[in-house]
Amino acid sequence: MKKDFLTLRDWSAEDLKEMIQTAVRLKAENKNNVRHHHLEGKKLAMIFEKPSTRTRVSFETGMYELGGYPLYLSSNDIQLGRGETIKDTARTLSRYVDGIMIRTKGHEIIEELAQYASVPVINGLTDDFHPCQVMADLQTIYEYKGHYNVKVAFIGDGNNMAQSWLYGAAKFGIDISVASPEGYECKKHVYDEARKTAETTGAKIELVRDPYDAVKGADFIYTDVWASMGQEAEKEARKKIFKDYQVNAALMAATGKETLFMHCLPAYRGLEVTEDVLEGSMSIIWDEAENRLHAQKAIMLKVMGGK
Ligand code: CP
Ligand code: NVA
Repeated sequence: MKKDFLTLRDWSAEDLKEMIQTAVRLKAENKNNVRHHHLEGKKLAMIFEKPSTRTRVSFETGMYELGGYPLYLSSNDIQLGRGETIKDTARTLSRYVDGIMIRTKGHEIIEELAQYASVPVINGLTDDFHPCQVMADLQTIYEYKGHYNVKVAFIGDGNNMAQSWLYGAAKFGIDISVASPEGYECKKHVYDEARKTAETTGAKIELVRDPYDAVKGADFIYTDVWASMGQEAEKEARKKIFKDYQVNAALMAATGKETLFMHCLPAYRGLEVTEDVLEGSMSIIWDEAENRLHAQKAIMLKVMGGK
């Protein structure tokens, strides 16, 4: 039976850790110019209903490196953008390709796509989750520390990144503290599910108000934009609401230990993070961005076949 990659909740910790190890191996092999065409002859449709730099380029080049063929499908250019339904798109594409990656809006859209597609569906970001980014982040954490026995502080909006991090941390036994302003917390059902998983892995999962509480003892401070794609109209209002949630030198220093800075990118300097932190020696953002390539290849191998 096909298995989709929609959220980290749907996968076992063993499978996810194995994918990270595959990503680490593929990265080392890339540096040595070793290429395996494990997806030779396979095709991946990539539907984008929102813009993208990293997700598009990592999947597209990753597919190329694995010997497969990626098709970039902007929703403006396919009939989906003119009102063809998701379920009809799913069944049509399934007759041509071996996998579908989609970046879309409501999470229910990707669930419907996965229900009607007979090929595996990969989540390239929805309003609620961005699991591919967290896989690259987990790979980055593993590379820096050699283990997952760490604490992550997520500062800002309880958005798709924060929610994916709750599931990821719970699965990997990582302690996580998410600090968000009132009304912008992660959804309760996501928090509850993450807490339930955490009971089996020992992860400490908490939602707090004060960023200074969240960062205590943190090995990694993570942030994301204050206004996500689709929230452009709220941008100015959010600047005021989130003003105390900026990751700056003072917050980085408040962990009481050496702390690395992470961001999924794109970043807005002077808003969610200051220039000095983003460009500083503790910032590991380019490793995260690079690891999108290797982590995405590992995910494609897992769901589309190949070693
Ligand atoms: N982090 C991330 O998904 O970046 P893009 O929006 O550029 O794909
Ligand atoms: N929360 C951001 C993530 C971008 C990768 C957004 O959805 O726009």
